[in-house]
Parts: sequence; structure tokens; C-alpha cells
Amino acid sequence: MESGAPAIIDVHGLTKRYGGRTVVDHLDMRVERGRIHGFLGPNGSGKTTTIRMLCGLLTPDEGSGSCLGFDIVRQARRIKREVGYMTQKFGLYEDLTIEENLFFIARVYAVPNAATRVQATLERLGLASRKTQLAGALSGGWKQRLALAACLLHDPQLLLLDEPTAGVDPKARREFWDQLHALAEGGLTVLVSTHYMDEAERCHRLAYIAYGRLLAQGTAAQLIAAAGLTTWSITGPRVGAMAIALRDQPQLHVASFGNALHVSARSETELEAALAPWSGSDMARARIDTSLEDVFIALMQGATDNYAA
Ligand SMILES: Nc1ncnc2c1ncn2[C@@H]1O[C@H](COP(=O)(O)OP(=O)(O)OP(=O)(O)O)[C@@H](O)[C@H]1O
Ligand SMILES: [Mg+2]
Repeated sequence: MESGAPAIIDVHGLTKRYGGRTVVDHLDMRVERGRIHGFLGPNGSGKTTTIRMLCGLLTPDEGSGSCLGFDIVRQARRIKREVGYMTQKFGLYEDLTIEENLFFIARVYAVPNAATRVQATLERLGLASRKTQLAGALSGGWKQRLALAACLLHDPQLLLLDEPTAGVDPKARREFWDQLHALAEGGLTVLVSTHYMDEAERCHRLAYIAYGRLLAQGTAAQLIAAAGLTTWSITGPRVGAMAIALRDQPQLHVASFGNALHVSARSETELEAALAPWSGSDMARARIDTSLEDVFIALMQGATDNYAA
């Protein structure tokens, strides 16, 4: 199951409540050294809250475990100092250069040997040749890289990145992820939340959360296999009407991908029966490999049912 590599994050039963609502509900998570662990789930599912509990900024109401070998409750201050945390709305000083931003952060966090660390970080992230550029003049991708540099200044062993590429264009996101992989190959561990499927596919392991509950954890292949879905892709002039009609059937998972409709179900026979009325010369269909996104759509639909019950 696990490779036996040391766990950088190892928590059990992590729970957080606000008022009467349980927003993180007995969550278990284990992340091994050098891995990129993706954290996915719909808006408001508890990703940021979990990340903040892991980095010592928020005390869990229940649960225990360790992060970087420190106890998440008793040694929260120590964890806060040791991790690199990129918040969901990370801010930089737009009227300072790349280098000045890093020096400023080094001073605020009292990073020892600031000049050496700033230089090393600029080089590590390929920012050295741009160090005199104003942060405000950088494209979205380079801004994110600078934000990443700021988190790496104190040379943490663990990065907690909360939607680091939200709103960044596909090329810049790809480059950001190339950088994450290079860092992970050097032994850095990364927990990263994202809503992008292409990014999810680049993670070594994934955790999917909805309504505070962890619904699946494992490699992309394991998640797809565990879902046990059969998926058909359908195209034709009636897919819009078909989507509306099929969405009411709880055993089916329906989503549009480009101009095709993906319909998944655990039972092949039920799926066949549901699709039968929609066959015709104007409609084309093909059985396809179930994608990670099909699995997440199914997981989310199941979670909604549980929540309503
Ligand atoms: N300080 C707070 N007080 C009350 N409720 C909160 C607080 N912080 C978060 N919540 C609620 O907890 C739930 C989980 O929020 P959280 O920010 O962890 O979700 P998320 O998965 O990070 O969402 P997103 O993808 O939108 O960033 C939400 O319903 C949110 O409104
Ligand atoms: Mg969030």
C-alpha cells in the first residue's frame, strides 16, 4: 500500500467545526517525503481549513498527528516556522522588484543569512536574470513563481500551496508544475490544492474532499479503479436534452466535455438501459476510459446525496 517512505504529514481524525457545522470531518491524511500530494474538492469543501490546521495556524477541534515530525496540536508554533505556506490570495509588493520582495520577506521572517538565501532562491527558481523587474510588471506565471520563491526562502522541507495557480494561463501553469516537480525530485514535499484536472493528473497522489469528508485518496489510477465506473461519450444534436433528462437519475453521473456528454455508472446494465432511448442515427456514442474528472463528478454527486440524507 504505502512505500514505507517517511511520512511528512500523518494526521488522523482531523476535525474543525464552525458554529454547529462540521467543515472538516475526521480527515486522515498521510503524505510521504518527496511527493506531490494533490488536494481536490468543490468550493467550500474544507481544503483551506485543512491546510491551515496542518500548518499550525488553526487548532483542530478533534484529531491528532504530526507534520514534519512535530505534533500538530502541541508544536503548532514550530510547524508554522518550518513549513512554506502559500495562501490562496498571496500578495506581493507590486512596486518592489523581485529581489526587493524577497529581501523584504526575509527581513519580516528574520531569515538568517538573508543575502545568501535570496541569491540561492533566485537561482533555484530561475528568477536571477529577472531580479530587477518590478513584481507589478510580471505576468501571472512569473508572479506565482515569485510567490513560490517567497515560500522557499527559509528552505522548508514541506510546501503547503493553496490554489497557487488559480487564474494563471495554461502555459504558465505548466511551467509552475515543472518547477514543483523539480523541487520534489530534490526531496521537497508538496501538498497542493487545485481545481484543475491537468494539475491533478500531475500529482503523485490525490485526496478528494467534499463537505469536509475525505472521499478518496490514492494515485489517479487507484481512484479511477476504485470508482468502478463504466463511461460512455455521446455526441449529437440531442445531447443537451439528454443531459437534462439523465441528470435526474441518481445512478448516473452526467457531465459535458466539450461538445460531448459523458455518462458514467457503476452498473453497465443500468447504463445501457438509460442510454437505450437516446440511440438513433443522429447520435454517436463510444465507450471510453473513465477519466479522473468523471470520477470526481461521481464522488461529488454521491457526497451531495449523503449530505441531504
Ligand atoms: N472562520 C470561519 N468561520 C466560519 N466558517 C468558516 C470559516 N472558515 C471557513 N468556513 C467555512 O468552512 C467551509 C470550508 O471552507 P474552506 O475555505 O476550507 O473551503 P475550501 O475547500 O478551501 O474552498 P475553496 O475551494 O472555495 O477555496 C466553508 O463552508 C466556509 O464557509
Ligand atoms: Mg480554499
